[in-house]
Amino acid sequence: MKHPPDTDILGEFLISARSLAEYRAIFTLADSDLRARRILDCPGGAASFAAEASALGAHVTAADPIYTHPPAQLRTLALTETDRGSDWAGAHHDRYRWDWYGDPQQHHRMRRTAATLFGADLLAHPQRYVAASLPSLPFADNSFDLTLSSHLLFTYADRLDADFHLMALLELSRVSTGETRLYPLVDHLGRPQDDLIAHLRKELHDKGIRTSFRETGYEFHRGATSMLILHGPADG
Ligand SMILES: C[S@@+](CC[C@H](N)C(=O)[O-])C[C@H]1O[C@@H](n2cnc3c(N)ncnc32)[C@H](O)[C@@H]1O
Repeated sequence: MKHPPDTDILGEFLISARSLAEYRAIFTLADSDLRARRILDCPGGAASFAAEASALGAHVTAADPIYTHPPAQLRTLALTETDRGSDWAGAHHDRYRWDWYGDPQQHHRMRRTAATLFGADLLAHPQRYVAASLPSLPFADNSFDLTLSSHLLFTYADRLDADFHLMALLELSRVSTGETRLYPLVDHLGRPQDDLIAHLRKELHDKGIRTSFRETGYEFHRGATSMLILHGPADG
């Protein structure tokens, strides 16, 4: 369904396709964060992170409910959703800083390349892509050294309530022995989610989970320059 560009309604969850370069900047990932480490990307969406980081030696599992779709259908959907996301960002041009990408055309090109890489990897390495929905993941406790979660929690705070966020964070933390990194801390309209985050940090603290903030190397939604970290048992 095509959404009118002058609306604030993004519709269903967008299936976006970020690249490894974007994940590196967003989550301040160094090569040492990737090499031989077990990494969960949830939601994986149509990101090429799993494909590209695996080529560098990481052991990546991407989890997302969309992986129930047949791969051929998902390949096509990744591209149409990329176009939908670019239409949305272009229609809300002033909410974003474009300098990391250069301009909207380069942003669109990068996302299309990522969606294409994702589609090819999905066919070549289907075992990397696990159909799963927060707040319940089919992984054993402490299965991952690092967990990355981009553009679901906080992004869709208009439709996912505080209880869902808390259950999802507890689940991500359960499966990760190291850090769980979350970005952005604003919703899809760019509104900071400070009250929700303060509530969640208190709940997590009461359950013995330490949290902190870290600056990112990336800003697309204006002002979205930090990530939330949940520290795991192997993480001091
Ligand atoms: C905006 S995309 C983000 C994808 C990727 N992390 C990126 O940054 O490009 C949001 C994704 O969240 C997924 N999603 C929606 N509900 C979910 C849930 N309950 N658990 C896990 N993923 C979910 C959607 O299918 C969609 O692929």
